Amino acid sequence: MSNVYIAPSILSADLARLAEEVAAVESGGANWIHVDVMDGHFVPNLTVGAGLVAALRRITELPIDVHLMVERPEWYIAPFADAGASVFTLHPETTAHVQRHLDQVKACGMLAGLALNPGTPLDYALEVIADLDLVLIMTVNPGFPAQKYIPSATNKILRARQLLDDHLSQARLEVDGGISRSTIGEAHRAGADTFVAGSAIFGSDNPTAEVQELRRRCFQVV
Ligand code: DX5
Ligand code: ZN
Repeated sequence: MSNVYIAPSILSADLARLAEEVAAVESGGANWIHVDVMDGHFVPNLTVGAGLVAALRRITELPIDVHLMVERPEWYIAPFADAGASVFTLHPETTAHVQRHLDQVKACGMLAGLALNPGTPLDYALEVIADLDLVLIMTVNPGFPAQKYIPSATNKILRARQLLDDHLSQARLEVDGGISRSTIGEAHRAGADTFVAGSAIFGSDNPTAEVQELRRRCFQVV
């Protein structure tokens, strides 16, 4: 099986038909379900919490990949673990004790991720590299779906891949924001292996086929 993971973001799904939307991407071969949690402080938008993850847990077997765009993410580690989350990713600007909280995430049985905004140095990941199961390179400034992939992010993906390889890290390298048919190949060639996509998948006529197409584009010769 390929090492490419596709993680549809339900931020762009029709929440009134959530079970159908998840079933559609699951049958397209989606690997993870990505859940964007926003608090209206760290980012100017509000979304969902652990309750939604608990509901998702009842309708899919897929791992649930939770992306915390909130201040004080440590307050939510246990609630999301209890709700059935599999991956818990936080931003380093949101808490003073990142390393401690990565440890807590793992102690609760989840994979620990660190998310870096376009303007946030990759060095944050270097400092805690031994504690990371995942590095998330934001390819837009977080807060909203359907934004445009920031071209300079590709260079950061390249540097993140190098950093992980240099340290023999097995952490996944995830990208999030503006991932579509036209950008996924570039991000994959730069070294990303895990691809969040919201509007590209749930805004399409056929989310099942779109998951398959995004995966195919990773391996398209250019
Ligand atoms: C951005 C979120 C993303 C978002 C991606 O703030 O973290 O996960 O849902 O949406 P698209 O794929 O539409 O850029
Ligand atoms: Zn996200």
